[in-house]
Amino acid sequence: MPATPARLVVLVSGSGTNLQALLDAAADPAYGARVVAVGADRDGVEGLRRADRAGVPTFVERLGDHADRPAWDAALAHAVAAHRPDWVVLAGFMKLVGHEFLDRFGGRVVNTHPALSPSFPGMHGAADALAYGVKLTGATLFVVDAGVDTGVIVAQTAVPVLETDDTDALHERIKTAERAMLVDAVGRIAREGLVVEGRRARFGPAAPVH
Ligand code: GAR
Repeated sequence: MPATPARLVVLVSGSGTNLQALLDAAADPAYGARVVAVGADRDGVEGLRRADRAGVPTFVERLGDHADRPAWDAALAHAVAAHRPDWVVLAGFMKLVGHEFLDRFGGRVVNTHPALSPSFPGMHGAADALAYGVKLTGATLFVVDAGVDTGVIVAQTAVPVLETDDTDALHERIKTAERAMLVDAVGRIAREGLVVEGRRARFGPAAPVH
């Protein structure tokens, strides 16, 4: 395990229960990572209040405050970089990061999505799975690339879809499993490292270069 905990910057757009799970896990020094800042694309969300309560610095970059999307993306990258992250965790961040962001942090940005990739990418993973009629769905942690939820898969967790489910009930069941997956996988990334070969990712140190 590295001598110093990995520095995580977490980006949120909403309630931030995944962020809270990371904050709670990181309270234990053995976890191997700490949340050094929380950013959002909007003001006033519960995720930012969770960071405040934990004494973690926050920042907000709103798309509407910038001339265009690339300018917003550059400002977001700049704000994140100020906190010198080892890893950036998108945890319910409802915007796509752009080229400048990925140029700066590419390979060190992970996102959690409420579906079993490659099924049901996009903004409505739980609703789309329910509407399609699958009997199993779940959550996926992946390394962010330029696509929509297309990056290399780091971890997945599955939950059943029940006949009585509506979107909220299903999403809540997904989120319970998702938080456990996120905490486990981010901790392993911090403590062990992450190796990506083609489409496949595994925890562990990169092979030494000879
Ligand atoms: C999570 O289920 C996350 O996977 C999803 O938003 C929820 C955020 O919950 N993200 C997306 O759908 C991104 N496309 P939280 O704010 O309580 O952590």
